[in-house]
Amino acid sequence: MIKAINLTKKFKDFMAVDHINIEVPKGQIFGFLGPNGAGKTTTIRMLTGTLKPTEGKIEILGLDLKKHEIEIKRRIGVVPDEPRIYSHLKGYEYLEFVMDIYKINNKETHQRIEELSKAFGVNYLEKLISDLSHGMKQKLILISVLMRKPEVIFLDEPTVGLDAKSAKILKELLKNYSKQSTTIFLTTHILEIAENMCEVIAIINNGKIIAQGTMEELRKLSGEKNKTLEDLFLELTAQEEDIKSIVESLSR
Ligand SMILES: Nc1ncnc2c1ncn2[C@@H]1O[C@H](COP(=O)(O)OP(=O)(O)OP(=O)(O)O)[C@@H](O)[C@H]1O
Ligand SMILES: [Mg+2]
Repeated sequence: MIKAINLTKKFKDFMAVDHINIEVPKGQIFGFLGPNGAGKTTTIRMLTGTLKPTEGKIEILGLDLKKHEIEIKRRIGVVPDEPRIYSHLKGYEYLEFVMDIYKINNKETHQRIEELSKAFGVNYLEKLISDLSHGMKQKLILISVLMRKPEVIFLDEPTVGLDAKSAKILKELLKNYSKQSTTIFLTTHILEIAENMCEVIAIINNGKIIAQGTMEELRKLSGEKNKTLEDLFLELTAQEEDIKSIVESLSR
């Protein structure tokens, strides 16, 4: 469903994403982890057609992104890291706008909006988007994406700004969607989410994928059983020793 071959992005001389390869089969929840600035958002932007790669090939839903951009965009959903949406619209106007673009302004979609609004406690569709908090906007975007039932969903740190209940509902919803064959690509800094939700995890550091596999396979890489993903992550991104010395020097 998602395939990237030698995907690369250079910003002038800076290599933000460095020849990465990704393959996500249908129905999988794929977790993309990495420190701040590692290249996660840049990768998502390329995979979803909002940023042109410097090099490499992308296939989504078995289609070449270069040749079938419109069809792919019609069938995928993207929840970006920042909820940037038209601030002069009211919540329901934004949802109608999205429904009109995708030509899905029908009874079924309205019903899904109602269900999703109830699930996420969205009772503010009459309010102007400019007057909403970060989390409130994030939930509106989630509804605008999930109401379309996309076949592949990309989410960039989707739980940031969500309260505990909404985050839990989102996690459970995504698991259910994946059981129904929806493919999910998500980035997160919350290792517990990756460990509990993602069948396959890839870790990117300085633009390069440094490890990829199931939790089991990642554990094998480290050679020690019973390691938490946090330990593994810090070990693989070589930050373990760093942390000790930083905390020590700050505690003096
Ligand atoms: N438009 C741009 N122009 C120049 N450099 C960019 C641009 N977008 C991203 N970068 C750089 O590319 C690198 C990767 O950024 P990216 O946003 O992909 O990181 P990230 O893994 O999503 O980090 P975070 O966890 O903080 O969200 C960073 O060094 C960033 O400064
Ligand atoms: Mg990011």
